[in-house]
Amino acid sequence: MPTALPTLEELARQTEPWAGYARLREEAPLYRPPGWDRVFVLSRYDDVRAVLADPETFSSSMIPDVTPAMMVHRDGASHDRLRAVMAAAFTPRAIAVLAPGIERVATSSLDRLLEQGGGNLLPAWCQPIPVSAIAEILGVPPERQSDLGRWALDLLSVFFAQPEPGERAASLGRRGWERAGCAIRIGAAMGPRLGSELLGMIFRGPQERGAALTLRRLEGCRGLVEFVAFLGGIVRAQRSAPRGNVLDMLIEAMEPGADGVARASEVEMLLQGLALIVAGVDTTSTFLANGVRILCERPELYAELKANPDSVDAFASEVLRLWSPVQWTDRRATRAVELGGQRIPANAQLKLILGSANRDPIRFDAADELRLDRGETADLSFAVGPHACIGRNLALLEGRRAFRIMLARTSSLRLAERPRRTLHPGTYGFEALHVKIESAPIIGEC
Ligand code: HEM
Repeated sequence: MPTALPTLEELARQTEPWAGYARLREEAPLYRPPGWDRVFVLSRYDDVRAVLADPETFSSSMIPDVTPAMMVHRDGASHDRLRAVMAAAFTPRAIAVLAPGIERVATSSLDRLLEQGGGNLLPAWCQPIPVSAIAEILGVPPERQSDLGRWALDLLSVFFAQPEPGERAASLGRRGWERAGCAIRIGAAMGPRLGSELLGMIFRGPQERGAALTLRRLEGCRGLVEFVAFLGGIVRAQRSAPRGNVLDMLIEAMEPGADGVARASEVEMLLQGLALIVAGVDTTSTFLANGVRILCERPELYAELKANPDSVDAFASEVLRLWSPVQWTDRRATRAVELGGQRIPANAQLKLILGSANRDPIRFDAADELRLDRGETADLSFAVGPHACIGRNLALLEGRRAFRIMLARTSSLRLAERPRRTLHPGTYGFEALHVKIESAPIIGEC
């Protein structure tokens, strides 16, 4: 008797959802998951890629006629304008400047773990590397860098909220109470006009994603108010004393140009600064953890890479393809459209499973195998189209340098316990990564 197809909730929980993805690709390439209204799931490489490449038919904004706060959820000119400003932070030159800091943090935090014989790699090694890179971009001083991880989670819960069937909003009284407290705090830090504009954007965040303002999301709003007030302080200080870093370029975009018009408003830039911490920290630390987990589980691969460090770049690409930190992303059909012989109504939501597209055997030979000789794979880990990840080269730089350092400075790498998958829907990572490691004799600089 045929068994039921996996639900979205099961796919988000399983450590090995790959067989489930294969069933969707074969049996239901346009899948309507039970319990979800007007949601269609696409799992084949060609379908996912075609939707990503057609932003007019498939919008990144989940609610029609709303201009979302985050660039990644905006369409057309309003997206392109912000992307052009943010691009200043991601030129090859701007990224190259970050390389020495990335190596310093990857080395020093690994050395601390080596002294203890191991520990939880996620907070001790995977997170500090991207945190220090984003902190450098945004000018966050070392003593506040540990807050960035917490703010990233707040941001995920508010602006990247994933509505779930049956979820309930917090009571009206609680929402009013929280909002009033946040209004006082942000008003004091940013002034009444800017403060109330920012507050409105933050509290509307879940609604833009079609999600309810639950208790967790209210907490997230509180955290984001704290972060915006903090970043606003840095911007003010740097306006009067530029530091010659990327933030200077972003601040410049908020000033009126020769035509008297600023390229981006202060609210827009503060919110994009906020977006960088979730886009750049959680994804990259997950990427690093996924790579190290595989090295722990595959001693023969670990030995091969130690012997051939030139293969590390190929390893990093395969880790991203096979265990993509972003497993799925969403689009909304702007009109009724035919896909795979089925009609999708206007405003239906499409879940594009990047993690399944990357294992589609029609696109990749031996798709489930990690192959160091695969060459350029055109996988979809960073998406394609107008929203293709702006931080791709930074993430690759971090991964390649960090894995090289891990391989060069260790002589053995093992899991201390089986890691548990995180429950953030649409991502693939682990709650913790406890490892046992031993140091290698250092022969030269890596
Ligand atoms: C391994 C690490 C990373 C992965 C897997 C990843 C993945 C992605 C994906 C799939 C998208 C497209 C989302 C969509 O179209 O719906 C995206 C967009 C984006 N990413 Fe990344 N990302 C990573 C690292 C970074 C880093 C390091 C930064 C910045 C510091 C960054 C900043 C962004 C931004 C700002 C966007 C929105 C681009 C736009 O809308 O034009 N990402 N990323």
